[in-house]
Amino acid sequence: MENVRSLIDILELSTQEIDELVDVGTRIIRDPAAYAHKCDGKILATLFFEPSTRTRLSFESAMLSLGGQVLGFSEASSSSAAKGESVADTVRTVSCYSDIIAMRHPKEGAPLVAAQHSMVPVINAGDGGHNHPTQTLTDLLTIHHEKGRFEDLTVGFCGDLKFGRTVHSLISAMSRYRGTRIVLVSPDELKLPSYVKKEVLQKNGIPYVQTTSLESVMPELDILYMTRVQRERFFNEEDYLRLKDSYILTPEKLVGAKEDLSILHPLPRVNEISVAVDKDPRAAYFKQVRYGRYIRMALIMKLLGIQ
Ligand code: NCD
Repeated sequence: MENVRSLIDILELSTQEIDELVDVGTRIIRDPAAYAHKCDGKILATLFFEPSTRTRLSFESAMLSLGGQVLGFSEASSSSAAKGESVADTVRTVSCYSDIIAMRHPKEGAPLVAAQHSMVPVINAGDGGHNHPTQTLTDLLTIHHEKGRFEDLTVGFCGDLKFGRTVHSLISAMSRYRGTRIVLVSPDELKLPSYVKKEVLQKNGIPYVQTTSLESVMPELDILYMTRVQRERFFNEEDYLRLKDSYILTPEKLVGAKEDLSILHPLPRVNEISVAVDKDPRAAYFKQVRYGRYIRMALIMKLLGIQ
């Protein structure tokens, strides 16, 4: 719908709008009580056709913390999708019952189709191996709190760069900041898709390197963004089993890393960060979880036009 603003791709937000969201998110962290009734009477619907812990619950927690209410489903099998209903019809229906929708779907582009048929804003909460803009907002709030800036950062992405939608969205977001350098660490089979390299990195003139060795690039990094190998997107289990433990971050591998490195991970973690790293002061992935709730509060307010 034309007069309704959705969020499907992170680039739909200008860098100025991202600064504003980071600013509001930071204000909420300082004084959550001031926001406790901003969404009184509003309803968020969470339509999750794929598993989730953090994204769905942080959306629900965000709306409840704003005084609103939530409804939804957390698996496709409990919705009419199991009877063969289209995304377009589901969302037409749910937009009669809610003021804003967060949708996760295994098919790339499903939230975009939803937005085209919804009477209320639709937020892409992850579409297949494509994009995940609200994880990116979470990552950006974390980076801002950790580093105090978005410019002049060398960001290393390690793991499944092919199917990792959080990687694709964060690379898009970082490509707009001056002085960004990107370091891509993955097995050959899980390299960043060429469309992201061409349309994002090369188009914006972002310097990047690709390697299979995490140790060799560790000393350069300001941010290390670890990711899980995305088992559910593999065509066969053997390939997954062969690749799943390609990178395991341990305290030993951090020897040589910068003192002020920040280690991020969208979570869930499987094996790729040893629990021994959790007590390293550079581990920021559990702080990152916390920020997810506050930035989603800021986003819900923005899309509902609430000051
Ligand atoms: C990520 C996702 O769903 O893409 N999780 C999340 O939303 N925090 C990362 C992942 O599942 O590996």
